[in-house]
Amino acid sequence: MRYLTIALGKGRLAEQTMQLFEQIGITCEEMKDKSSRKLIFVNEELKLRFFLAKGPDVPTYVEYGAADIGIVGKDTILEENRKLYEVLDLGYGACKMCVCGPESARQYLNHNQLIRVATKYPNIAKDYFYNKKHQTVEIIKLNGSIELAPIVGLSEVIVDIVETGSTLRENGLQVLEEVCPLSARMVVNQISMKMENQRISSLIHQLKMALPKA
Ligand code: PRP
Repeated sequence: MRYLTIALGKGRLAEQTMQLFEQIGITCEEMKDKSSRKLIFVNEELKLRFFLAKGPDVPTYVEYGAADIGIVGKDTILEENRKLYEVLDLGYGACKMCVCGPESARQYLNHNQLIRVATKYPNIAKDYFYNKKHQTVEIIKLNGSIELAPIVGLSEVIVDIVETGSTLRENGLQVLEEVCPLSARMVVNQISMKMENQRISSLIHQLKMALPKA
């Protein structure tokens, strides 16, 4: 039997995912050592291999088949737009993609004005403004602390993830529009889904049974 390879987005997502896998009897002791810099972990009995990658790289590994399965946020799936199957909503990591800004910026969203939109997610922002709202905007790509942009005058609004809303509140910003709900998802390589259908389907089924009922 060959190894099934599972790519996990580094950080909290990976930790929650390993907890879920433990619930269905899949453990990977070496992965719990927080001081370790190791990136790849093997469960010999089950012929499973886990590796940790940067979130946005997970869909890339899965599309090319370097990983059969990936666990990654819906934000990353939408932004990266890779060829893969999204097979399961894991529920955790729930948050929303939103258009945010100061209350005074709300008017710009209703009058089809040419505004600047700062975001870590240019593809999601483009899709929302161009295809859903039919509003022409200038997208400015940033890499983090997006909330700064409207405060210092780089943009009128931002497209960003809102979880508790405290980053917005503490910076005098608000949700102006909701783009879409987000959470962790399981994705599968299109060829693996056919070649390893039995193992992958059984894994999906077991995970589904272990998830808290919605
Ligand atoms: C994310 C997001 C918001 C914040 C939202 O940033 O970009 O800034 O979390 O969470 P909240 O609604 O609970 O305050 P992250 O911490 O991932 O870092 P970043 O600013 O580098 O993107």
